[in-house]
Amino acid sequence: MTPVGIDALAVYTPGYTLSLEDLAIARDVPPEKIRIGLGAHEMAVAPPWEDTVTLGASAVARLFAQGAVRPDEIGMLLVGTETAVDHARPVGIFLHELLGLPPACRTVELKHACYGATAGVMLATDWVRGAGARGRKALVVATDIARYDVGSSAEFTQGAGAAAVVVSTAPRLVDIEPATGVYARGVYDFWRPLDRREALVDGKFSLDCYLEALDGALADYRVAGGSDADLLARCAACLYHTPFPKMAAKAHARLVAHEAARLGRDATADDTYGRLVVPWLGAARKVGNTYTASLWFCLAQLLERAAGGLAGRDLALFSYGSGCCAEFFTGRVVAGAATLAAGIGLDAQLAARRRLTVAEYEAFARAPASQSPTDDGRAGAVRFGGVRDGRRVYERRAVSS
Ligand code: HMG
Repeated sequence: MTPVGIDALAVYTPGYTLSLEDLAIARDVPPEKIRIGLGAHEMAVAPPWEDTVTLGASAVARLFAQGAVRPDEIGMLLVGTETAVDHARPVGIFLHELLGLPPACRTVELKHACYGATAGVMLATDWVRGAGARGRKALVVATDIARYDVGSSAEFTQGAGAAAVVVSTAPRLVDIEPATGVYARGVYDFWRPLDRREALVDGKFSLDCYLEALDGALADYRVAGGSDADLLARCAACLYHTPFPKMAAKAHARLVAHEAARLGRDATADDTYGRLVVPWLGAARKVGNTYTASLWFCLAQLLERAAGGLAGRDLALFSYGSGCCAEFFTGRVVAGAATLAAGIGLDAQLAARRRLTVAEYEAFARAPASQSPTDDGRAGAVRFGGVRDGRRVYERRAVSS
């Protein structure tokens, strides 16, 4: 089968961060409940002049600025988001215009909570192999802003960010293995009715749904012909959808239990969490839940920091979208990936953010969605300029790399 996988990757997260310790103090919650209980330290906050179009456009602009891919190489643009800006007009067509993508470019928005972008990557792997691609690449954009009610327990699991993932038949970063495991089941664990900006969630139930979906996806991975080798020995890293870092710990414990049961060994002796999972949770600790982009932020962190040392090594990846649909798959880091991955710039973006006070964060959170916001110069390649004549207006800025 033609190899297929991730050819290039860029991420963008807003230039504002809120310390969750500050938020915990303001909400009269013990800070250690958030720092230890959830494993979360900070969350990225989108200002009123950023939305999923500007976040996605800024991630793609970084991709183009890296020289990783040219717009004319793209034949399909799939945007996974659960924070769409219009019921009919897709985020992708805003990106298509803002970024100068070619007219012969299939452009579609995909929705299934946090799973939407992984669905896009998987659909793209089939498309790039087919004759219709005519040798072109697919661009998948994951872009989201996680918002819950101010003052709710879920408020600590917000975040914002976007990832731009290029899929091709000559991947320079990660080869995706053909066997993948999928699981879908209708559950009401997390949802956002059409008239609401903030999501609703049955928090504790959502954790159970996530883990049950991991069980189902792992079972299907075996049916699909996934390698029989011990995943924990074979893989150099296990990356999970990370709404908050403790969720990745729970997911890994579940995967360890599966492998122990399958291979007839004692799960309690396992010590792989610190080695296979923790090193790639740093961004999630500081950005929070980026919904569709969450798994790709973990991958960006891994590639930026360790692609050289992991060349030829396998990775396990798990994507979960509430509602629910999930996928477990594996990939192999391509030799030479470190050169391209050095340009991802995630650590630099995190270091350059401004820390908000709780009052500033609340002012951002309560700003009306359609006002014409004044910015303070801290934005990505594109800013939201407000709504004129019922139409959303975006303004290009100088590209930050
Ligand atoms: P909560 O009620 O704030 O917290 O809800 P809790 O009481 O469950 O405590 C959390 C942890 O802190 C527990 O650890 C406590 O023991 C511990 P655990 O037992 O789970 O290991 N704890 C403490 N630790 C140290 N010192 C203390 C202390 N007190 C308690 N003093 C919840 C937490 C995550 C449910 C809430 O924040 C929430 O509803 N978040 C949103 C939902 C969510 O993130 N779900 C994740 C799975 S579903 C998913 O990932 C999909 C999603 O991304 C959306 C999509 O797909 O579109 C959300």
